[in-house]
Amino acid sequence: MNRRPHLEETDPIVYALIQREIARQEDGLELIASENFTSPAILEAVGSELTNKYAEGYPRKRYYGGCEVVDEIEQLAIDRAIELFGAERANVQPHSGAQANFAAYMAVLQAGDRLMGMELSHGGHLTHGSPVNVSGRLFEVSQYGVDEATGLLDMDRVREAVRAFRPKLLIAGASAYPRVIDWAAFADIARESDAVLLVDMAHYSGLVAGDAYPSPVPHADIVTSTTHKTLRGPRGGFILSRESLGKAIDKQVFPGTQGGPLEHVIAGKAVAFGEALKPEFKTYAVQVIRNARALGEALAERGYHLVSGGTDSHLLLVDLRSKELTGKAAQETLDGVGIHLNKNTIPGDPRSPFVTSGVRVGTAALTTRGMAESEMQRIGELMDRALRERENATALERIRGEVRELAAAFPLSPVSAAAAN
Ligand SMILES: Cc1ncc(COP(=O)(O)O)c(C=O)c1O
Repeated sequence: MNRRPHLEETDPIVYALIQREIARQEDGLELIASENFTSPAILEAVGSELTNKYAEGYPRKRYYGGCEVVDEIEQLAIDRAIELFGAERANVQPHSGAQANFAAYMAVLQAGDRLMGMELSHGGHLTHGSPVNVSGRLFEVSQYGVDEATGLLDMDRVREAVRAFRPKLLIAGASAYPRVIDWAAFADIARESDAVLLVDMAHYSGLVAGDAYPSPVPHADIVTSTTHKTLRGPRGGFILSRESLGKAIDKQVFPGTQGGPLEHVIAGKAVAFGEALKPEFKTYAVQVIRNARALGEALAERGYHLVSGGTDSHLLLVDLRSKELTGKAAQETLDGVGIHLNKNTIPGDPRSPFVTSGVRVGTAALTTRGMAESEMQRIGELMDRALRERENATALERIRGEVRELAAAFPLSPVSAAAAN
C-alpha cells in the first residue's frame, strides 16, 4: 500500500527519503530515551489540511476569520490535556519543549531575573539555564546538580543552593535523571524562598499520564512538557498552570514568543491526549518502566554500572568507565548494528559532551512496538556482545542480523510496515 501516491509522483526524491527513514525506523532498535512512535491516527491528523489554516490568537479570540473548526480542535486539545493531567489551565500551542519553556519563563521573569535549574552535565536540559541557550543569556543563572557519588538529587543540597541564590524561578525536571524526582520537596523549597516552581516533565509526561510516575501538577505553579517523548504524541510542546498564571502564559506564547499556532499538530496533540486517556495507556506506561528495569538488570549482570543504581522511569544512564569505553565509541558501535541510543555525560564527567563517559538508554519506543522484559534481556545481551566485539567486523555483522530479526518480529505499525515495503 502506498500511503503517499501524490508525493511519490510530485517529488520522488523527498518520497524516497521518507521511505528510507521508515525502513530505518522499522529495521533498528530505538533506544533513544526522548523518542517514540506515534500512532497512525496521530500521523493522519498531523498530515491533514489543518496545516493550511492561520489562527493567531486563541479559541474564540482569533485575529483571522474562518477559525470555527480549528477553535473546536484546539479547545478539545486543551480540555483533554486538563482532564489527563488534572490541571487548572493548559496552553497547547508551543511548537516544541524549548518554546514551551521560553514562553513560561517570559510569563514570570524579566530579563536579568534569577533562574535556577539542574546542570546540563548532571542530567538537566539546555533550556534550564545553559549559557549556550537563551535561558542562560537572558537571565542570571545558578544551577544545582546531583550527588556525584550516588547520582541522586540530594534535596538538602538543593535547598541550600536555593537559599543561597534566591532565584525568582526554580526549575525541576531533567533529560537524563532516571529516578523519581521529589516534586513536593521542590515545591516546599520554592515556597520557602518565594520562588515560582516550574516543572519540566518532558521526559516523564507519558509515565505521569499513565499513573506510573508521580505527577508534578499538584505541586508546581507551571508544568511544561513535550508531547513526543513518553507521551507518544506528535512533535510539540504544551504548558499547564495554575489558573492565576494562565493569562500571562497565554500572552507569552502568543504574541510573546510565537506566531500562528500549528493547528495540524494541535489536532495530533488532541488525538494523543485522547489515546493517553484510554486504560491501555496505563498498561503501556507501566510496561515502559518494567522494560527499563529489565534492560538495566541485563546490563548490570554484564558488569555495566548504572548511575543511581537503576531506574524508576523509562531511562537508564550507563556509566561506561568500568568498560574503558567512551559514550561516543559505544554510540558509534551500536549504531552500526542498528541499536540506536545517545552518548550522554554522567555526573562529574571528566570527558567533553562530544565524547562523554556514558550513554542514555530509554525503553518507551520499543515498548510501543510491543516488546517486553524478555526482549530487553536479549537486547542487553546484544548490546554487550557488540561492545565487546567492536573490533570484529564479522561478529558485528552477525549481531546486525540478529537485531534485524528481532525488529522484524515487532512491526512498527501495520501502516508503516506496509509503506516500508
Ligand atoms: C527536559 C526537556 N525539556 C525540554 C526539551 C526540549 O524539547 P524540544 O526538543 O521539543 O524543544 C527536552 C528535549 O530533549 C527535554 O528533555
